[in-house]
Amino acid sequence: MKLCMIGTGYVGLVSGACFSDLGNSVVCVDIDKNKINQLKQGIIPIYEPGLEEIVKKNIKNKRLSFSFDFDKSIKDSDIIFICVGTPKKNNGNADLTQVYHVAKKLSKLINKYKIIVTKSTVPVTTGDKIQTILSKKNKDNKYSIVSNPEFLREGEAIRDFIYPDRIVIGSNDVKANRIMNNLYAPLISKGAQYFHTSRRAAELIKYSSNAFLATKITFINEIANLCEKIGINIEDISIGMGLDKRIGGRFLRAGPGYGGSCFPKDTKAIISTANFFKTNLSLVKSVVKSNDNRSKLLLLRVYKILNNRIKNKNITFLGVTFKANTDDMRDSSSIKMIPALSKKGAKIKYFDPTGFKNEFSKIKNVKYCNSIKNSLDKADLVIIHTEWNDFKSINFKNFAKNKKFIIYDMRNIYSPSKIKKQGFKYFSVGR
Ligand code: UGA
Repeated sequence: MKLCMIGTGYVGLVSGACFSDLGNSVVCVDIDKNKINQLKQGIIPIYEPGLEEIVKKNIKNKRLSFSFDFDKSIKDSDIIFICVGTPKKNNGNADLTQVYHVAKKLSKLINKYKIIVTKSTVPVTTGDKIQTILSKKNKDNKYSIVSNPEFLREGEAIRDFIYPDRIVIGSNDVKANRIMNNLYAPLISKGAQYFHTSRRAAELIKYSSNAFLATKITFINEIANLCEKIGINIEDISIGMGLDKRIGGRFLRAGPGYGGSCFPKDTKAIISTANFFKTNLSLVKSVVKSNDNRSKLLLLRVYKILNNRIKNKNITFLGVTFKANTDDMRDSSSIKMIPALSKKGAKIKYFDPTGFKNEFSKIKNVKYCNSIKNSLDKADLVIIHTEWNDFKSINFKNFAKNKKFIIYDMRNIYSPSKIKKQGFKYFSVGR
């Protein structure tokens, strides 16, 4: 099938590359000429393990191409995926400017039957609005509008694409559903569940899934607070709860709160949609509030660990991205913690496997180090902020020759007893 991905951000690029790997002919378009020129040479603008290999392989076998010729790419394709950004507006709503802009352009270019699929995360009824825009110029209905939400996780995106738990297709017509089912046939045959529903339901499934996962994380984080008070290990609680198949063990890892480009944005957007439809999502509202407060809570623990003497303390952050296997800093808790500690006079060093971060370039007394070793030099407190594999088997003794630093493991990577045996003061989350 001939596919066109509009937008070469995370969703468009990963899905486009993976669809081409399944044997389709895919063109990815973007208004950013520089990005397209780089992609043509196989230079990937994001950090995603495995993506570069797939892109290069499929450019070589001519199944994947990149273009800024929007009109030609649309005219040549059978299925068009809208993968543009839907950033958060100040009022919490998703900003749909780019989606509607694309819809208007598409409305002038439909020359034969096409399926237009929204992969961007869009609030319920967006598909209806796209339909209205298209119907103004296309009275003979040579198109179908489908919602096919994306469930890829950054850092695991290729695997999530190839082995999805489910493929959700929201469409109100049989023909589009049949074609989408064919497109996904190679994944369905490997065991992926294919769920066909109404377009509005598919749109809401995406937001509800993200809001639910954010709730699960926030729930376990609050239970972790309780565990710290009682002296119980949160991991026992996560395991004990997760063994119940109705609950499931995934997304029950306590930590510094959820971040990234999706959960913080989507929880606020679903509240906003519910407000519009005069429904109170009180549970999701309190999840947002609890998560917003999480960094502050962990900072208070840092102050307590340092006996409230923060000035001139050497604090090292191992990892600053919102999670491992990504270079993404969006809504990472480190963005709140590092400036707050700097304001109190701490001297901060950080190491991240994805390198220097502009976010801290203007913050006083914050220094990027190019190795774990350099970052740990003279540290008073080491904060393990992100769960990169690089940090999972550090022999801290080798780095603490002259003095023993304190370790605050915000991801519960290490066994408390083992680290304590080595003579380090060790703190973690909920245990
Ligand atoms: C999330 C969803 O998991 C994807 O299914 C979805 O497609 C994506 O959003 C999206 O809407 O595009 P992502 O933001 O890449 O994916 O990252 P996650 O792995 O879900 O992690 C989100 C945050 O929750 C991170 O800050 C992570 O550290 C935190 N988290 C996750 C926990 O604190 N505990 C957990 O047990 C799991």
